[in-house]
Amino acid sequence: MDKSGKNKVAKETKVRWDRIAKHYSLVEFLSEWYLAPFRKILWAHASGNILEAGVGSGLNIAYYPQGARVTAVDLSGAMMQKAQERALGRNREVTFKEADLCDLPFTGGSFDTAAATFVFCSVPKPVACLRELARVTKRDGQILLLDHVRIENPWIGPLMDRLNAATSRFAGEHINHRMDSFAREAGLEIVESRRYGFMGVIQFTAVRPGA
Ligand SMILES: C[S@@+](CC[C@H](N)C(=O)[O-])C[C@H]1O[C@@H](n2cnc3c(N)ncnc32)[C@H](O)[C@@H]1O
Repeated sequence: MDKSGKNKVAKETKVRWDRIAKHYSLVEFLSEWYLAPFRKILWAHASGNILEAGVGSGLNIAYYPQGARVTAVDLSGAMMQKAQERALGRNREVTFKEADLCDLPFTGGSFDTAAATFVFCSVPKPVACLRELARVTKRDGQILLLDHVRIENPWIGPLMDRLNAATSRFAGEHINHRMDSFAREAGLEIVESRRYGFMGVIQFTAVRPGA
């Protein structure tokens, strides 16, 4: 995708999430009872100088490791405002920055860990953006991802493929991503991978090959 295409997608994503932010506490109420344990497991792997890409309303902040230095980015100022409020009084060192995770304002190898949870489902071209996460991660660093993906079941998978046209068009939500394939296509090596429950949630740790 060229620069103007990237900017257009980023602008649409920002507008959408600024709008969703007003009602996001309802999403949190409906989903966190199920998702919170997966967040805890992912953040237990994070260390060093950390990037959280797509911080959203800051639901991960409670799980940031004590003493970690975290830079949190998001395209939506309205979502990030919620994260900033959530960070207050949590005794975590977090720097917030409005940025597109597909075009990050950091030099190569800036972070020991890059993490993104439930973000790539709203990224239309994940491979290029995974490469961007890899670029800002140190050679011996790690990329931690948690997301909902295509359920590889002969009935449900094809149904998700069909419904994806509507969910991505009307809500910007991709329900049939194959994140593990995308990561490999982006040149990453998956060193640990887990699928959780029946809802198609995947968590994995990736590194640059040869690291
Ligand atoms: C479903 S929310 C998830 C938020 C948070 N990571 C969590 O687990 O609760 C998705 C977030 O990703 C952000 N986002 C989507 N595409 C992005 C991009 N290209 N760059 C930065 N943030 C993005 C949205 O603004 C939104 O805040």
